[in-house]
Amino acid sequence: MSIAQKNVGFLVYGIREIVEVAHAIKKLDPTIELTWENIGDPVAKGWPVPPFLKEILATEIARPDNRSFAYTHSRGNPETRAWAAGYSKKWCPSSKLTADDILFTNGLGSAISMIYQMIATGKRVLQPSPTYPTHASFESFCAGSKPIFYKLDPDNNWEPDIASIESALKEHPEVIGITIINPNNPTGAAYSKETLAKIVDIAERNKLMIISDEIYFRMVYPGTTHVQMTELASGRVPLLVMRGLSKDVPWPGGRCGWLEFHNVDINPEFKTYADGLKQRVLPEVCAGTLQQQVLPQIYDHPDFPAWNANYSKELKIVADDIASILSTVPELQVNKTHGAFYMVPRFKTGSLTATQSLPIANPAVKTYIEKLVNPPAGGPALPLDKRFTYYLLAATGIVCVPASDFFSPYHGFRITTLERDPAKRKKTYEKFTSAVRAYLGSG
Ligand SMILES: Cc1ncc(COP(=O)(O)O)c(C=O)c1O
Repeated sequence: MSIAQKNVGFLVYGIREIVEVAHAIKKLDPTIELTWENIGDPVAKGWPVPPFLKEILATEIARPDNRSFAYTHSRGNPETRAWAAGYSKKWCPSSKLTADDILFTNGLGSAISMIYQMIATGKRVLQPSPTYPTHASFESFCAGSKPIFYKLDPDNNWEPDIASIESALKEHPEVIGITIINPNNPTGAAYSKETLAKIVDIAERNKLMIISDEIYFRMVYPGTTHVQMTELASGRVPLLVMRGLSKDVPWPGGRCGWLEFHNVDINPEFKTYADGLKQRVLPEVCAGTLQQQVLPQIYDHPDFPAWNANYSKELKIVADDIASILSTVPELQVNKTHGAFYMVPRFKTGSLTATQSLPIANPAVKTYIEKLVNPPAGGPALPLDKRFTYYLLAATGIVCVPASDFFSPYHGFRITTLERDPAKRKKTYEKFTSAVRAYLGSG
């Protein structure tokens, strides 16, 4: 009797899979010091939460009516949805967005699982490569077939490669939408207006919807401007924008995100899709009430703009510093980042081999890692960048994620650029570059 859903193999999430490996190593060698550069959680990396957030929460919790302890509306607290619609319209005053076009979920992770589930059978949504794996995983899981990708170009600041979008569309008439992540996880790119305008043109021409994950939209570094997709797509293309409070407040444990359905009036099928999603959330009862009750107070707080500006400024300092240390390795292509808090240094073609290694002092850890990097005969070979990250972890304790786990066609690794302590940052990334040099020179 088979019990398990047959598509489970499509659900991959290397960001946390490597945590299991790290814990196994720590068990074998308790002296190893782990340095977590894998999960995009600013709070776990020691970034503060705004003091005003704590005050707002304390006041909310103390309310005699206990409203935040109750269920709220299935689609989201009505006042917060009205606020979210008004907030989004700041960038696009001509927008017809209303509270009815907003849907709250328990974080965008949950929203991502639903947006692909509610797409018609046989239809597909084009995914970036590399990408945040939750998108490609859920899209392919729901479709029961491998993801269909367009490329992000490392030689053009990781911007979407327009030619590869066009060719994927020619090859796959079943595609009805395209996913954009801007600013980007995993590359840290913030897309230019020109590129986004071209994508809107393509979507309009090919009658596609755009799914625009903008969870990092407030986190563009000084000198860069975030281009809102709402502005470009207004009245032209069905657009689903995704926002959340995990990263910018930051409050990842709050599990609160929301969807905005733009331009529903121009395409009845998009309206039906949006209605389907609204129905989809009903049996889940509702998303967390407390987070929704306080959300407008957080973003409208008089201290928020300065808090946000300082956060972005600091993120740029950290990212630039890490980029300059990693750039000293000639075999790495390191693009400077302009938003979010990730980076994908890429190994230049031909620099990785299947025989490279790093010395691992503890014999039990060495045996464990060698078993991982040498899968049984006949099984799939380990991607070369994954092999590197396993050796790096065992030899240095640094936990990062291979680019291949982000569905990248290029070998590399994704790191979070969140280490605030300059001394620890220098120590970690100098250790990192020494390990890369030793690994590349080993065979
Ligand atoms: C691009 C992107 N979208 C969505 C999410 C999910 O965010 P959450 O579930 O915390 O709202 C993440 C988390 O890292 C992300 O990087």
